[in-house]
Amino acid sequence: MERKDVLVPAEDLARQRDFQEKIRRMFEARQAHPRACVDTFGCQQNVADGQKLMGMLQEMGFTLTEDAKEADLVILNTCAIREHAEQRVFGNLGILTHTKKENPEQVICLCGCMAQEERVSKRIKESYRHVDLVFGPQALWKFPELLWEVYETHKRVFSVQDEHGTIAEGIPVVREKGVKAWVSIMYGCNNFCSYCIVPYVRGRERSRDPQAVLAEVRELVEAGYKDITLLGQNVNSYGNDLDIGYHFPDLLEDIDKIPGEYLIRFMSSHPKDATYRLFDVMAKSSHVAKQLHLPVQSGNDRVLHEMNRRYTRAQYLDLVNYAKRVMPGLVLTSDIIIGFPGETEAEAMDTVSLVEEVGFDALFTFIYSPRPGTKAAAMPDPATREEKQKWFDKLLEVQNAKSAALHAAYVGETVRVLVDGESDDPEFPLASRTEGNRLVRLKGDKSLMGKFVDVKITGSNTWALYGEAI
Ligand code: SAH
Ligand code: SF4
Ligand code: F3S
Repeated sequence: MERKDVLVPAEDLARQRDFQEKIRRMFEARQAHPRACVDTFGCQQNVADGQKLMGMLQEMGFTLTEDAKEADLVILNTCAIREHAEQRVFGNLGILTHTKKENPEQVICLCGCMAQEERVSKRIKESYRHVDLVFGPQALWKFPELLWEVYETHKRVFSVQDEHGTIAEGIPVVREKGVKAWVSIMYGCNNFCSYCIVPYVRGRERSRDPQAVLAEVRELVEAGYKDITLLGQNVNSYGNDLDIGYHFPDLLEDIDKIPGEYLIRFMSSHPKDATYRLFDVMAKSSHVAKQLHLPVQSGNDRVLHEMNRRYTRAQYLDLVNYAKRVMPGLVLTSDIIIGFPGETEAEAMDTVSLVEEVGFDALFTFIYSPRPGTKAAAMPDPATREEKQKWFDKLLEVQNAKSAALHAAYVGETVRVLVDGESDDPEFPLASRTEGNRLVRLKGDKSLMGKFVDVKITGSNTWALYGEAI
């Protein structure tokens, strides 16, 4: 697709603003004060999409609520990554039959990654007749128009065409309270890892223009945001579709020049596209956190090949060794899948040995979940759930011991943290994050909120550090 076809034209976005205005006036004429509830599942990309939905809803005159019962409009912004995620959404949809019975005017929308699956949209069409509007991630920018159609026609609306996907700049965003912000730098995925549904539901890779990203980060820093995460399914292929010889490390270098007191993080990184240059740029930059989430998935070459990951165990180890060499103290995390179809116990133990060898600070671990339509879902999968669980438990045991040991080594040290939340532990009422994104529960008062402070670490466990401000 040509670049000009990827960017949504300004006049099309202006039309969407007209629909927002129409909806606002419709409620005003009824002297109604509509309320909307947006329930987001899944990854940070979906969280960022949810913030755009909320932005558009505010422009339409909606107040936001977290209670679906009192909402005039309920949106489930869904995730399709594992079966469990989908079951939760179907459970929630079941509950919404009751809220709609009490309030027949309630409008129910299903969007996000599940909505883009044909199997799901069919099931909604046939069996969840209380759902009024279904649209996939590629249609997000058309939400005002789709919602207007629901209000005007009182008919069910489905917008789930399989599309390459576009980029819509300038959609309003409702951000979380506090100092954290998400910035999508690209959308979609081209990688087709054999187990993964994302490329089927999020369209092809497309990168935002560097100037648009830079302007957004600059605005956020000026507005006082201090912990900014750049998002993409694989940020390391940022820019490939721009054809201007500008890549992710270039973007990081340019962002780093923005003055201010803030940290830049990014996720996710695909090892096949991670380069020494990326790590060199991270190492010498002053705002990029020395933190890397580099999903490895497996430590066995046959399994990596079947997963279509396009790197080997040795290549992965070489990358992390280089990254650690140029960034001493780097906080390194990863994603792992146990029980990929055909994986043997010995192969799963290769993953455990890789985890031991690398010494990750933390892991996100998953048992393989077949996703209909993906290549892996059609592969023979002889290992039982019990076997996979046993391998999984072994992995957790190794990682938890490692995390606990790494955390214990912080005790007595002084570290700089960003105070970003409260906790329900009365002894340690504040939550904060180190540059590496380690959670530190803190003694101290609320006046520290949103500030960078030096703290002395006094205790630790597998999941967190404990400390006090000095
Ligand atoms: N784009 C990111 C991953 C997004 S999904 C990346 O490539 O790093 C987040 C994680 O979910 C993946 O890294 C993988 O570990 C896990 N995952 C994806 N599909 C899965 C499946 N079918 N079953 C189990 N885990 C899965
Ligand atoms: Fe899925 Fe692989 Fe794309 Fe990540 S890189 S979203 S795991 S296909
Ligand atoms: Fe889920 Fe879609 Fe993210 S499938 S993990 S919400 S990209």
